[in-house]
Amino acid sequence: MDLVAALRTQAEACDALGSPMYGELLAALADDVAAGGPTARVLEGHEDDPGPSGLALRLAGSVHRLVLAGQAGELAAFYPTAGGAWVSEGVSAVVDFLDRRYDDVRPLLDRAPQTNEVGRSAALLGGLIRMRARWPLPVRLFEIGASGGLNLRADRFRCTDDAGGAWGDPQSPVALEGAWKGAALPLGQGLTVVDRGGCDVHPIDVTSEDGRLTLTSYVWPDMTERQARLAGAIELARTRPVQVEQADAASYAERLTLVPGAMTVLWHSVMWQYVPRDQQERVAARLAALGATATDDSPLVHLFAEPTRRTPGAEHELWVCAEAWPDGGERTYLGRMAPHGVPVTWE
Ligand SMILES: C[S@@+](CC[C@H](N)C(=O)[O-])C[C@H]1O[C@@H](n2cnc3c(N)ncnc32)[C@H](O)[C@@H]1O
Repeated sequence: MDLVAALRTQAEACDALGSPMYGELLAALADDVAAGGPTARVLEGHEDDPGPSGLALRLAGSVHRLVLAGQAGELAAFYPTAGGAWVSEGVSAVVDFLDRRYDDVRPLLDRAPQTNEVGRSAALLGGLIRMRARWPLPVRLFEIGASGGLNLRADRFRCTDDAGGAWGDPQSPVALEGAWKGAALPLGQGLTVVDRGGCDVHPIDVTSEDGRLTLTSYVWPDMTERQARLAGAIELARTRPVQVEQADAASYAERLTLVPGAMTVLWHSVMWQYVPRDQQERVAARLAALGATATDDSPLVHLFAEPTRRTPGAEHELWVCAEAWPDGGERTYLGRMAPHGVPVTWE
């Protein structure tokens, strides 16, 4: 991997997705690598890391983790998550930090970036509200690739649309303002979740400080709304535990059952691309087999927000889709989601 190119590409992506801080910082770290500075020394040996391992995000997340843990007081003034504000002088402070704190940063680079994007609840919850209008039953909610399981509490979040509509508890610590655009959702009904759980190959325990630091450190520090949603969802999770077991998507889906008098939902967001093909096939086979036994009293819904092509030649976009049984399991395209979830434009 060309380290300079990797840092520059990530800098541009961060800039485009709403983090001018990382846009500037990672571009400057690319220059520092090119000049053989402290960043080059910290990243030495990682030249052959595969591109998808996100080395630039691992580096930025490692420094951020130390800031969040209160172990980088000299950087706090530049990090909004530590009460500071980003200014360009932060670049030399970070480069200087990498020079002096090589031994602290280096081991953290081996951690895989892990996120749990709370904004994606807007897509999953909106889809669930749509499906519940079809089957107004209590919901059994299960998630594959659930990470910290934060989105398994989506029914406890507050969402508003751009037409003055609102759903959920106004006192919720998670408020997704302007979450929904386009076709109006049937917001008048309640939603009762009677069972919930999830799996992940690397579950994060959000009730632990380590879990909080992990999820928070990979959210870009100047994206204050994302940070606020995450902090709110972690607060909620600590009072309402949900089990996210360590299991792969296929073995979890194969244990899924239907229960009379309830709508069983398997949902997921931005994880399918990481699931090996054989597991994808096993999940699809399990859903089809279970779907064949579904009735209007025990329906099955597969709901997801994933990069998908609507037609064979189309671009990949983040579509919110549903497949439901006993309605035949045909895929319905419900709406499109922004990368970090909000807003969702319903069809
Ligand atoms: C990009 S994260 C998305 C997490 C969460 N769904 C969200 O939208 O915030 C992808 C997640 O999928 C998990 N994952 C990857 N492969 C998996 C598999 N085969 N089975 C279950 N989870 C998997 C990862 O550990 C990670 O937590």
